[in-house]
Amino acid sequence: MIDNLFDTLLLAQEGPLLQMPNEAVEAIEAAAETVSTSAAISWSNLGYLLAAALFIFGIKGMTHPRTAVRGNQLGALGMLVAVLVVMLGGGVVSWPVALIAMLAGSAGGVWLANTVQMTQMPQLVALFNGFGGIASVLVAGAELTKASNPGIAGLAAGLTGLIGSVTFTGSLIAAGKLQELPQFKKPWSFGGQQIANAALLALCLLLSWMMVDGSGGEYILLVLVALVLGTLLVLPIGGADMPVVIALLNSYSGLAAAAAGFVINNNVLIIAGSLVGASGLILTNIMCKAMNRSLANVLFAKFEGSATAPDADEVYAGKIKSTSAEEVAMLLDGVQRVIFVPGYGLAVAQAQHVVRELANLLEANGVVVEYAIHPVAGRMPGHMNVLLAEADVPYDQLKEMDEINPTFAQCDVAIVIGANDVVNPVANTDPTSPIAGMPILEVHEARTVVMIKRSLSPGFAGIPNPLFAADNCLMLFGDGKKALVDLVAALKEN
Ligand code: TAP
Repeated sequence: MIDNLFDTLLLAQEGPLLQMPNEAVEAIEAAAETVSTSAAISWSNLGYLLAAALFIFGIKGMTHPRTAVRGNQLGALGMLVAVLVVMLGGGVVSWPVALIAMLAGSAGGVWLANTVQMTQMPQLVALFNGFGGIASVLVAGAELTKASNPGIAGLAAGLTGLIGSVTFTGSLIAAGKLQELPQFKKPWSFGGQQIANAALLALCLLLSWMMVDGSGGEYILLVLVALVLGTLLVLPIGGADMPVVIALLNSYSGLAAAAAGFVINNNVLIIAGSLVGASGLILTNIMCKAMNRSLANVLFAKFEGSATAPDADEVYAGKIKSTSAEEVAMLLDGVQRVIFVPGYGLAVAQAQHVVRELANLLEANGVVVEYAIHPVAGRMPGHMNVLLAEADVPYDQLKEMDEINPTFAQCDVAIVIGANDVVNPVANTDPTSPIAGMPILEVHEARTVVMIKRSLSPGFAGIPNPLFAADNCLMLFGDGKKALVDLVAALKEN
C-alpha cells in the first residue's frame, strides 16, 4: 500500500501540484484510512493491555483476604475497560441488539447478586462457568458462518466447541450436585462408560480437526457430541470430589474463551481466557492435594461404594452423648486453649458473627482461641476464610490444616460448627469410603470435642461419622447460630 502511494505521488509530482491525478488522491485517502485504522488498532491494543494488567493485579489482590476486595474491584474495572474497547472499536454489528443484550445481562446479574444466598454461591459459580463455556461456543459458531474455508481458525473453533460444550453440560450437572438435587446426588455410571467417553472424545477431536475446512453442519455435530461427553464425564463423580471438578470446569471455561479469542482474533479474550485457564489449573492442583487424589483418579475412578461400610444405626446406636449450652459453658470454664472448626453448616446458619462474639468472651477470660481451616470445608475454595473475614476474625488466628493438626492433642475443647466430612476419621480408616485418603482435621485428638449440628445426618459425602460416637465427643444439637447464641448467654451467666 505504502509503495503504491509513493509511486503515485512520484507520478503526481511530474504534473502540476494542484492537478493531482485521481489515482494519487485515492491512494492518499486509502493510506489515511489505513493509518487511522492502525491507530485505532493500537488504541484498542493499549486498552486491552490495560485490561490485562488490571486482571493480573486483580488476581494478585485475591491472594490475601485483606486485599481481596480491591482485587475484585480491579478485575471488574479490567472487564469494563475490555467491554468499552470492544464496543468502541467499531466492530459492533448491531448496536440495538448489543445494548439489549448488555441491559438484559446486567439486569440478570444485579438480580442474582441480590437474591442468591451466600450458601448458593458455589452453584452460581458453577453456572457462570457453564455460561462462559456456552458463550464461547456461540461466538466461535457465529464466526464460522462467515468463513467458507476457515483454516487454522476453524481448528480453534472446533476446540472452542469441544471445550465450551463439555464445560456447559459438566457445569450444569456440577451445579445440580452442589444444590444436592436428588437426581444428581448419587454418582451415576454404566459399564464401559470410560470406553464410551474415550470414543466420544476421539470423535470430537476428529471433528475439530475437520473444521480446518469445515462447515456449520460439522460444528453443530461436534457441539452435540461434546454436550453428551460433558454430561457423562461429570455424572459419575462423587460429591466429595466436587471441589476438584469445579476448579477444573473453571479452568475449561477459560480455555474455551482463549480458543474463541483465536477464532475472532481478539487479544483480550486470549489473555483473559488464558488467565482463567491457568489459575483454574493451579486451583485444581491445590484441590487435588487437599483431597489427596490425583486428577486421573477423580476423573476416571468409578466409585463403587463400600460393601462393608456400617450403616448409621450401627455406628451411633447407644453411643451418642447429647449435651446442652449450659453444660458446654461449664466445660469451657477454666480451659486454656479452644479451637473452633467451621464447616458448611456455619455458612448455612450464618453463625460467623456469633462465633466471633463467643471467641471474644473466651479471650477476655485468658483463653487462647484459634480456628482450624480445612481447604475443602464448605462448598467453595476459601469459603470459611470469607465467612470468618466477614466477622473480622483476625487472620493470624486462622490456622491451616497442616499447621493446626499436630496441636489438637494440646487443645482442651474443639468446637466443631457445622463441619462433618472434613473431620470424619473414616477418611483414614476405610479405603473404600468416598473420602478415603482425604486429609482431615484431627479434632478427635482434642481432649473434648463439641459437635454443633442439627441432627446425626451425614455431610456432603453422605456417610456416617464415627466421631459423633467417640468417647470424647459431645453433641450439641441445634441450628449453629441458635446453639452459639445460647452458649454465649450461658457463658455470660456463669
Ligand atoms: P459437610 O460435610 O457438608 O457437613 C455439613 C454439616 O453441617 C452437615 O452434616 C449438617 O448436619 C450441618 N449443618 C447444616 N446446616 C446447619 C445449621 N444450620 N446449623 C448447624 N449445622 C448445620 O461440610 P464440611 O465438613 O464443611 O465438608 C465439606 C464437604 O463439601 C466435603 O465433602 C467437600 O468435599 C465438599 N465440597 C467442598 C467444596 C469446596 S471447594 N469447599 C466444593 C464442593 C463440595 P445437620 O443437617 O445435622 O445439621
